[in-house]
Amino acid sequence: MENDFQFYLPTRLIQGPNCLIKHSHYLKRLGKKALIVTGVNSSKLNGSLDDVITALEKENIRYKIFDGIDDNPTIELIQQAFNENEREGISFIVGLGKGSPIDAAKAIGVLFRHRGISAREAFNMKNLRSIPIVAVPTTAGTGSEVTPYSIVTDHQLRTKKDFGQESFPKLAYLDPRYIYTADFNSILHNAFDAFSHLVEGYLNVNANLMTDIIAEKGLALFGELKEAFIRKSLSPDQIDQLLMASTMGGMVISQTGTSLPHALGYVLTYEKKIPHGFATAAIFKGYLGLYSDEAKLSRMLSILGFASTAELMAYIDRIVDYRLDLTEDEIRVYTRNMLNNQGKLTNHPDRVSRNQIADMYQKAVKK
Ligand SMILES: [Fe+2]
Repeated sequence: MENDFQFYLPTRLIQGPNCLIKHSHYLKRLGKKALIVTGVNSSKLNGSLDDVITALEKENIRYKIFDGIDDNPTIELIQQAFNENEREGISFIVGLGKGSPIDAAKAIGVLFRHRGISAREAFNMKNLRSIPIVAVPTTAGTGSEVTPYSIVTDHQLRTKKDFGQESFPKLAYLDPRYIYTADFNSILHNAFDAFSHLVEGYLNVNANLMTDIIAEKGLALFGELKEAFIRKSLSPDQIDQLLMASTMGGMVISQTGTSLPHALGYVLTYEKKIPHGFATAAIFKGYLGLYSDEAKLSRMLSILGFASTAELMAYIDRIVDYRLDLTEDEIRVYTRNMLNNQGKLTNHPDRVSRNQIADMYQKAVKK
C-alpha cells in the first residue's frame, strides 16, 4: 500500500440520542422547504419521522413527505417521487429510513438539480450533482449516510446498480434509538452489510492508510459484538456500537468502493430475494480464499478475534440464516454477466477468472 492518496468525505456527522432535535439548526442552512423521502411504515413506528418533522418545524422549514420507498427502489419509483414533487419548491431532501430511502433521496436529488433529465437518462450519465441531502438512517448497515452511492434496482438489467453520481449527504444524523425496536433478523442482515463493507474496503485495491485506520476500528467494534449476535440480543450500548461500525464501513467504502461480495451478491438479492447483507455474506466463503495478501488477512482475522479464515466462515455459517439453491445454468448466467461487467471486479487486487466467479456462486449455495 502506497501512502499516496486522497480522502474526501464532505458529510457533517452528528451522532447521539436526540441529535436531530438538539442540532436542528444545521437544517436551516439548506433551504426553506424539504422533501422527506421514506418508507411506508418503519419511520412512523420508531419515532424518527416525528423527530424529523419536529426538527423541521423548529427551524420553520416547510416539508412534503414521499413515503413510498420499499426495500429495493427502482428507477421508475425515483422518477415518480420527483414527478410528484417537482413543482413544490423543494430545496433539500431528507432521506429517512433503511439504506433504500437514503439511496433513493440521493438519486431524486439529482433530478431536482438537473431538471429535464429523466432518471433513466441520469442512470447512464456521469458527474451529475444533487440538491443537498440529509441522511437519517434507522438501521445500522448500509453506511449510505456517508457514501456518495445510490443503489437502485434496474429491471432492465435485472440487478441492483449504483445510480452513478456523487451524492454525499451534507448532513448525517445518527440516533441509535431508532434501531432499538428493530427485529433481530433485520439487525443481523444489516450488520452483515456493514461487516462486508469493512472487509471489502480493507481487502481492497484502493485501501489506504486512512481507510485502513477506520476499517480496523470498525472491525474491532464488530468483533466485540460476535457473542451478542450468537445470543440474538443486543443491548442499547451494543446497538450504538454497531451503528458506529456501520458508519465506519460507509466511510471506508466511500473511498475504496466495495469488492467481490457486493459485485456478485446483488443478483442474489434481485433474483433470489436474499437480503443484501446475507447475499454478500454468502459470497464470503469463496471470496476470502481468493485474497492473496496473507499478512493483511491474518491482521484482519486477529482484529475480529478469529484464529483462521475457517473459524470466521464457521461463525458466518452459524449465524447467517438463508437458503439458496442455484442451478448450474443460473451460475453460468450470473458468471457470464459478471465477466461482462469487469468494472465491478477491479477493486479486488488480483484478476478474477470465470472459474473463480462460478466457484464463489457454487459455495454460496446453502440448502
Ligand atoms: Fe452494501
